[in-house]
Amino acid sequence: MDKLLIEGGVPLVGEIAVSGSKNSALPALAACLLTAEPVILNRIPQVRDIGTMLDLIGHVGATVSSEGGRVTICAGRIEHPEAPYELVKTMRASSLVLGPLVGRCGRARVSLPGGCAIGARPINLHVSGLEQLGAKVRQEHGYIEAEAPHGLRGAHVQFDRISVTGTEDLLMAAVLARGETVIENAAREPEVADLAALLTTMGAKIEGAGTSTIRVQGVAKLGGAEHTIIPDRIETGTFLIGGALTGGDLTVRGCVPEHLRALIAKLQQAGVEVTEPAPDALRVRVTGRLKNVDITTEEHPGFATDLQAQFMALMTQAAGISFVTETIFENRFMHAQELARMGANIRLEGRQAIVAGPTPLSGAQVIASDLRASASLVLAGLAAKGETAIDRVYHIDRGYENIEAKLAGVGARIRRVRS
Ligand code: EPZ
Repeated sequence: MDKLLIEGGVPLVGEIAVSGSKNSALPALAACLLTAEPVILNRIPQVRDIGTMLDLIGHVGATVSSEGGRVTICAGRIEHPEAPYELVKTMRASSLVLGPLVGRCGRARVSLPGGCAIGARPINLHVSGLEQLGAKVRQEHGYIEAEAPHGLRGAHVQFDRISVTGTEDLLMAAVLARGETVIENAAREPEVADLAALLTTMGAKIEGAGTSTIRVQGVAKLGGAEHTIIPDRIETGTFLIGGALTGGDLTVRGCVPEHLRALIAKLQQAGVEVTEPAPDALRVRVTGRLKNVDITTEEHPGFATDLQAQFMALMTQAAGISFVTETIFENRFMHAQELARMGANIRLEGRQAIVAGPTPLSGAQVIASDLRASASLVLAGLAAKGETAIDRVYHIDRGYENIEAKLAGVGARIRRVRS
């Protein structure tokens, strides 16, 4: 397994270009299964999870061609409407093909994703939504078997709790259902609105995407499209936090500041100067001591759970006590004990982590446990004195494109050691 070696203590200075959003690209790729026409997607990040989704789409029977960040999918024929365990176990977002397959060909067999490091990650909300659209769903041998031989019909679906991919799965099933579907308590993440923009270009009739209530008028079939994926707001936030944590002067280019209002507010409360030098750029500078700030993760537009680990690393350098409360996932503090091994003072009490700072960080050998925890360890390594070796870097390769090249480009002493 590859390792990242980081020699810390260098402020990040300069400009980083952000990639397309992994969490927008994944549903967009699944949406290509809804039509027999070619769909071209631009700004697809070249990260591991995308590779897994492309393998899955190819397994289903679509043709896939990619050239850099431009991917063309043509699902002329669906030969295997299924997502096998071998693929789903490495990426639970494979369940995003459930809605499109049932919508397009009336059946789907998708392996249950199983849990991951951050929690149980069930897909009961995806299943109950499809059943309300008329699909018959049963579970056996670790697979979900969904059937709608006479097609799906629109319904009024109320999500018990907000689910990003649950909303996306149901939206993709509803666009080909007969009649109107209303999705209440829908996720408001920008990635949902981006998926709706793609589906609309393909001919779907959708209102309210990005709000809690989405209204869909089903159509008989969808056509091809070309669409550019939105920038990755979590990658953007990760780099902004890194610029602050290293006491640098960092500009992230090609981003959407509007997608990061909650993080920007918290960074400013912590004493970080955040400016917008251009409509697609954010710049961070630290002019004084970092102040302690409490965060509570919430669904968008609240503070993103995917930035919690990175912000916790920042709070280890803030003066005072910071309370970090995680409300979305039940086990998303795996990074805390690794940060503690680098010198952080963090106490865990259920859904809350209590961070006492500032404590000097020293480089250490640490292990990545999940995508965003590993990002947090990279940021801590950049700020630590001495060398940090991060093992199991495949976690970070799932969601960050060329992270060591991007960070080295703004001064970080970071290199990958291939095992
Ligand atoms: C999406 O996951 C993201 N992944 C996650 O990003 C992100 O952390 C999460 O949304 C929350 O923002 C993609 O978009 C591919 P949820 P998702 O369904 O959709 C529970 C990353 O780091 N739940 O919104 O799987 C669930 O257990 C990843 O890029 C059910 O109980 O998250 C969780 O506690 C990590 N039943 C809560 O809801 C369901 O059927 C929110 O999960 C579905 C979810």
